Amino acid sequence: MKQDMILILDLGSEENARLAREIRAMGVYTEIHPHDITAVELAALPGVKGIVLNGGPNRVVDGVSIDAGAAVYESGLPVLAVNHPGHGGLAAWSENAAEREAQIREFVFDTCHAEKNWNMENFIADQIELVRRQVGDRKVLLALSGGVDSSVVAALLIKAIGKQLTCVHVNHGLLRKGEPEQVVQVFRDEMDANLIYVDAVDRFLDKLAGVADPEQKRKIIGAEFIRVFEEQARKLEGIEFLAQGTIYPDIIESGTKTVKAVKSHHNVGGLPEDLNFELVEPLKMLFKDEVRACGVALGLPDSMVYRQPFPGPGLGVRCLGAITRERLEAVRESDAILREEFAAAGLEGKVWQYFTVVPYFKSVGVHDNARTFDWPVILRAVNTVDAMTATVEDVPFALLQKITARITAEVKGVNRVLYDLTPKPTGTIEWE
Ligand code: XMP
Repeated sequence: MKQDMILILDLGSEENARLAREIRAMGVYTEIHPHDITAVELAALPGVKGIVLNGGPNRVVDGVSIDAGAAVYESGLPVLAVNHPGHGGLAAWSENAAEREAQIREFVFDTCHAEKNWNMENFIADQIELVRRQVGDRKVLLALSGGVDSSVVAALLIKAIGKQLTCVHVNHGLLRKGEPEQVVQVFRDEMDANLIYVDAVDRFLDKLAGVADPEQKRKIIGAEFIRVFEEQARKLEGIEFLAQGTIYPDIIESGTKTVKAVKSHHNVGGLPEDLNFELVEPLKMLFKDEVRACGVALGLPDSMVYRQPFPGPGLGVRCLGAITRERLEAVRESDAILREEFAAAGLEGKVWQYFTVVPYFKSVGVHDNARTFDWPVILRAVNTVDAMTATVEDVPFALLQKITARITAEVKGVNRVLYDLTPKPTGTIEWE
């Protein structure tokens, strides 16, 4: 293996992720595992140089104080026990941060003699080896949406197992302009992947016809996606593995042995049990910024790796109310213009999320001396750290005017443009 690892065992700390990031920032790879790791599981982990037992307020589970298993003490590896304070821990953490950092640093480098060799090239080399070991000469299936996580998984697996990977891209008609084409170009044309492109546009739009309730729309899109993917999976023969773009925050939010689930995650579960796939999740120990760095190192284009967050239901929740093809195209075309103009103004990558919304009412306008009765387009551009609250981007007025002029001139059926000035709260980021 190319890199050393410090293992963090979760003994109920709320600071597991923070500690992992701290050690990675020192240049040493870390993984977080449950407190009761077995000797077999421990032996399967590559390059372990030492173990940190990360204790904290969640140490008591179902009335019992948990402890590390015998495997840890019998491994012969250096062990460091740390304890993190409970709620309000943030203040305590920063108070003791320097001292704690010095203690961890001493353990990592002086006690464990770990080398500073955590970098993307080494991570990728290790994951390739681990995937090959797991999969052997068998076949893997991946739902490739074209989002950051699934794209990086695809690029990594193509490197590791080439044509043993089959990617399925479902075009549900709710993607942004150019996205399905980019998936085909990057993965089929440039990386020579086994890619099945499924045109499911009519199918999704038929299912969504007349459905106005946002949550109902989300449910239909999610369920239909699984159905289409499952149909493809059943058609293919001899597939034993399902690859997923699960990343570390997904795992945290789905709960651990010491912390209950915050929310169920779409990457964890979903397909019927009888398909009986074993999971391949090579990014499950990476944070989002590390996933992007991994994508860059694998040669994916910046436009794929640094794209802004895009909701699973896609443009489906930006074409408000019951989706019609005409308004959906107005969302897609206006979104493309907004993105183009933000990029030209140097705002790409600086504003957290920006998009357009088309409501279901019309207003009166005038064009070439004739009365029009068309849709408005609403522009939204926000900044946030965690998407829980958001502020509105102060977009230069001249840029808003330019975007307005382009949208009203170029997008069919639109005669008016509005800018949403509402922070979250009281507005959510999306309109539905
Ligand atoms: P809201 O609208 O709740 O959005 O302020 C917060 C962030 O979550 C994204 N979002 C979604 N992402 N499926 C997703 O994968 C969804 O149904 C969904 N709804 C909202 C939204 O784009 C923003 O980044």
